[in-house]
Amino acid sequence: PSARLHARPRAHFTPARNWMNDPNGLVYHRGTYHLFFQHNPNGLGHGDISWGHATSADLVSWEEQPLAIPYDENEQIFSGSAVVDHTNSSGFADDGSVAMVAIYTSATRDGTQAQALAYSLDEGQTWQKYAGNPVLDRGSADFRDPKVFRYSGEDGEHWVMVAVEAAEHRVLLYRSDDLKRWTYMSSYGPAGAMGGVWECPDLFPLPVDGDASSRKWVMLVSLNPGGVAGGSGTQYVVGDFDGHTFTADRDWPLRGADDPGLADLDWLDWGRDCYAGVTFSGLPEADRTLIAWMSNWDYAHHMPTRPWRGAMTLARKLSLVSAEGRPQLRSSPVLPPAVAVEDHVDLARGAAVALPALARLDVEISEGAVADLEFGDGDNSVSVRIDGAAGSIHLDRRDAGFDGDVSSFASVERLTLPDGAAARVTFVLDHGSIEVFAADGLRTLTEVVFLGEERHITLKHVEGGNVTLLQVSDLTDGAAG
Ligand code: FRU
Repeated sequence: PSARLHARPRAHFTPARNWMNDPNGLVYHRGTYHLFFQHNPNGLGHGDISWGHATSADLVSWEEQPLAIPYDENEQIFSGSAVVDHTNSSGFADDGSVAMVAIYTSATRDGTQAQALAYSLDEGQTWQKYAGNPVLDRGSADFRDPKVFRYSGEDGEHWVMVAVEAAEHRVLLYRSDDLKRWTYMSSYGPAGAMGGVWECPDLFPLPVDGDASSRKWVMLVSLNPGGVAGGSGTQYVVGDFDGHTFTADRDWPLRGADDPGLADLDWLDWGRDCYAGVTFSGLPEADRTLIAWMSNWDYAHHMPTRPWRGAMTLARKLSLVSAEGRPQLRSSPVLPPAVAVEDHVDLARGAAVALPALARLDVEISEGAVADLEFGDGDNSVSVRIDGAAGSIHLDRRDAGFDGDVSSFASVERLTLPDGAAARVTFVLDHGSIEVFAADGLRTLTEVVFLGEERHITLKHVEGGNVTLLQVSDLTDGAAG
């Protein structure tokens, strides 16, 4: 494997060294975005799990910080969230500072998973574990991934936690006044995809079509395996939350792993490499922003990059848009500023257009046309078919530089566009990945792929119309900061 093939991404966060999985504790505070993450400080495999830490002013360039919450002989620090305790409800900030509080899963050596707290009085730089841990223990081996948010109801403000009983396919909801004592309220599930354990839930409100008076709540549920593209994936459910119970708008039919009916559910992403995505706390309600782990438990341990293993997706702004008779999630990527742009290149069949190292491409195909595009470096390639007649997109990464015998990596993904969606597609290509945003962000498809530096896009075949490269943006220097 060539070092250049497996070069470090420019706009996707990777740790300097060693293993990374889920994003944790996403919180915006005083002009800084904090990204904590599942991290093994000692090796390239999942073990000694601790919270790593990185910060950013713009969600694009990240600076890794010292290890935040280390494992010890009793526990690993599994996934969770972070909040800023502005009212000092927890009493942690008795010195007049503001506490950042992490709510994480303590995965103990004896096999229990319970929720625990750590706090920082210096904006996330150093952390203390709470002496009263754990704060919520059901005696379960699979109770994990607490996501905590502030809820403002008729009886004032309090904290709400969503966490999974992973093997039961259930999201449990709790409330608390001080982050330390939690009261059970209700649960959601099983529903929809349940071919694997449920993990990393999130629950948040969004206006529908930008109208604050028609607010809906979105529940994200990652599951592994049983995702729409195989292995790890994230379904979402739109409904209402009254401060106590989440009620889905629809009764989603139960679907096991590899059930063809999985394609009828709502998915955050249709690719193989967007997992455990959760959103930031501390941002205005309309600024809902998500980061996910760009990998899949099917082959995460085979990622060929060195000396790190694991990357995050681009940050994505989420909104709810009416389509096909229901509110659906739209994702739009947060990108570095473009420093050079080519406009309106007519893609002639067979002609190769060179691409910058970090590129955004906006492609349009005329109505009803079918186009086969290839992203390649002469050696490795990713093939994409945009089928304007069938309303679908296929992505084939079987030749995308993943050496070794990892059959589940060698895959072809497919997504269906909503009825009537224009066949206009945005691609973001970095080292190690391709992200596809179609139907104005209503469909996304995220894939790990490996292409060398000298990349081109080629139109291999087109019928029933033509293909226009509306724009090729060079984001390389914008991500350098
Ligand atoms: C999801 C997950 C979580 C767990 C963490 C452990 O990828 O399995 O459920 O908390 O990873 O690293």
